[in-house]
Amino acid sequence: MAGNRTFTMIKPTAVAKGFAGPILAKMVSEGGFKIVAMKMTQLTKEAAQQFYAVHAERPFYGELVDFMCSGPIVAAVLEKDNAMQSFRDFIGATNPAEAAEGTIRKMYGTSIGENAVHGSDSDENAAIESAFHFAGTDIFG
Ligand code: RTP
Ligand code: MG
Repeated sequence: MAGNRTFTMIKPTAVAKGFAGPILAKMVSEGGFKIVAMKMTQLTKEAAQQFYAVHAERPFYGELVDFMCSGPIVAAVLEKDNAMQSFRDFIGATNPAEAAEGTIRKMYGTSIGENAVHGSDSDENAAIESAFHFAGTDIFG
């Protein structure tokens, strides 16, 4: 059965442009996601390398790590039925230029690398990524 929680980060460019508020509002009011944990934080290089270790062999890994620790992010755990897939559909394709109209990446993304938000890609990774940022006692489900 699909899990009811996923993990997201609003990426540095989107936070710097002041889009955190509009993005969170859209997730809650339009997407129907409930925020059960949230914080603003900045990743160290080591933390970004660890978080994205699954992409270590991909050509964009170094760029991705440097970008993700370049400024503050907003990390959050979201709750909804079928949360992981529902959220990935809601944010749109990885490349904002290819994302459907009205999706978060289409509206707030800058480029394929700086695509406004992260969304976990499996229930297992949602749990791992949530635990990376939040203690169990900081998740209010
Ligand atoms: P995310 O993990 O951030 O939710 O994005 P995703 O599943 O849609 O895409 P993924 O393949 O997991 O890639 C992770 C992040 O790496 C950056 N990327 N850059 N320059 C490039 O070709 C490229 N491809 C991916 C993006 O920031 C992407 O979200
Ligand atoms: Mg991914």
